[in-house]
Amino acid sequence: MNLKELEISSEIFDFIKKNRSHFNNLKRANLFLKGSCGIINFFDTSNQLDDLRLLITEKENIIQEEPDRREYGDFQTNKNLALKSVQYILSMDTKVEFDYVVEPTCGKGSFILAALSQIETLKKVIGIEIYQPYIWKTKFKILEFYIQNPQRTKPEIEIIHANVFDFDFEKLSNETRDYTTLVIGNPPWVTNSELGSIDSENLPQKSNFKKHRGFDAITGKGNFDIGEYIALMILRNFSSHNGYFGFLIKNAVVKNLLYDQKHNNFRISKIEKLNIDSTKEFNVSVDACLFLAKLNKEPEFSCMELDFYTKEKRTSFGWFDDSYVYSISDYQEANDIEGKSQFIWRQGIKHDCSKVMEIERYNDHFKNGLDQEVEIENDLVFGLLKSSDLKVKQTNSYRKLTIITQKKIGQNTDYIHKDYPLTFEYLWKNKDYFDKRKSSIYKGKPNFSIFGVGDYSFMPYKVAVSGLYKSTHFTLVLPENGKPIMLDDTCYFISFNKLPQARIAHYLLNHEHTQQFLKAIIFPDSKRSITKDVLMRINFHKLYSLFDPSSVQNDLDAVTLEEWEAFGELTGKKQGNEQMTLF
Ligand SMILES: C[S@@+](CC[C@H](N)C(=O)[O-])C[C@H]1O[C@@H](n2cnc3c(N)ncnc32)[C@H](O)[C@@H]1O
Repeated sequence: MNLKELEISSEIFDFIKKNRSHFNNLKRANLFLKGSCGIINFFDTSNQLDDLRLLITEKENIIQEEPDRREYGDFQTNKNLALKSVQYILSMDTKVEFDYVVEPTCGKGSFILAALSQIETLKKVIGIEIYQPYIWKTKFKILEFYIQNPQRTKPEIEIIHANVFDFDFEKLSNETRDYTTLVIGNPPWVTNSELGSIDSENLPQKSNFKKHRGFDAITGKGNFDIGEYIALMILRNFSSHNGYFGFLIKNAVVKNLLYDQKHNNFRISKIEKLNIDSTKEFNVSVDACLFLAKLNKEPEFSCMELDFYTKEKRTSFGWFDDSYVYSISDYQEANDIEGKSQFIWRQGIKHDCSKVMEIERYNDHFKNGLDQEVEIENDLVFGLLKSSDLKVKQTNSYRKLTIITQKKIGQNTDYIHKDYPLTFEYLWKNKDYFDKRKSSIYKGKPNFSIFGVGDYSFMPYKVAVSGLYKSTHFTLVLPENGKPIMLDDTCYFISFNKLPQARIAHYLLNHEHTQQFLKAIIFPDSKRSITKDVLMRINFHKLYSLFDPSSVQNDLDAVTLEEWEAFGELTGKKQGNEQMTLF
């Protein structure tokens, strides 16, 4: 789009027509517009000015269809959200007098306008944007604003057409160090892998910006949002300016920024995250927020989370000593059980072939997901629980059953042919479904291979939790007619040979102290918030030691004192200097 295709309001038309004489040459027009709205070099070339004159004369207003802007993570902030965001920052610190605004990817200029309209003290404004049509939109909006508000003092404004990744923020920061600065904006919402999938190069040149330990653990697989890169670039260059930083950004990015603050030590304090409704604001379903920090203060490592609309506080998350937690107050109260679990948490059976491997009982016969009658021996058939079955306190019943073809990962499955001919015939008949499994884990493995199986799968008593839901409710899973029940790969569990051990573990896990600990360490925004890593942080021995046997007697009436003490011994056993890990 060039200037000729710009949508200009009638007010701007009238203004330009009325002041037509000032638009005769480039120098004059730029001088006039600087006086009218503060923008330096409104037009870069005489051609641009010619285009505008043509536009005015012919009253053209051609709107072209927008090109595909996916690679630019283009979600323009609406006027109201930008106004409210600036308003909130001003309310955080009524004494601050901003004289400088930087918007690193200013788009159509909502934040610049929100700042100009609410901050009277501004002396300088810089906006950067890669997309020329948006530069025009921003410039004309600013012009319109000053036409409507001629009495307002005009700061010096530069709207720069540039790629943010090539822009010299270090130079800009050095030149403007004495200004009370507001860096505000909404950087692109796009990740490097999304850019990869559309062959885009809208990336920083040196994208090795996250090579330190711990990052993969938090974000997974080095995938990063380019908004995160821009936020880091800004904080690196501007955190020793006096002022504030405010970015509309994905929650996942904020989680990483705070995590990295431990070693970045940016001079930021009063860190806040105000959750927005991105469906309402941007018509996308991404958890996002306004992330705020006061600049040039002793570094802080925690962040208060609030609701953007009600300002209701949700939590304070971040670093507590060496732990990165979602609720610092809960963690303070329940961190006495932080450690390493003595029981290994496992994920359930994975087979990626549910149509064949999962069956249901109808009276005295089985049917599979392909609606085929299934006639097989009983031995390899086990009850199966899924996440949705784990809402109860305890269970020994199930809706579905599954075929367990191996006792250990990689076990040869030839024995099925010999020992269970009907099961083999059924599996062989449906072999195509197994061969079509996409995941590389099945490549080169025995026919009908499954994963998430081991001795622990066949232990009779289990304590399980859903990995799909946010709830940390644990279910005691008992065998049915002496046969252990399996869990699918959406569940996590620990397993036991003795019922009292399972009962005690189940009791301890559902106790409010453990629940508080889990609430403290689980970030609910994550796609899968309950993970093996999280569960492995519960030290059962420390947890057990918090209880006096007399106080638990009522809740654990089927467990004797000897069994209770045996659990203490089991979890307290040491091997060398290490606490032993069981099962
Ligand atoms: C999420 S939008 C937000 C725009 C504006 N900050 C706002 O709040 O409405 C991101 C903006 O970044 C711009 N952008 C994307 N990549 C850029 C780059 N490499 N350099 C400068 N701007 C870029 C897009 O064109 C888009 O206008």
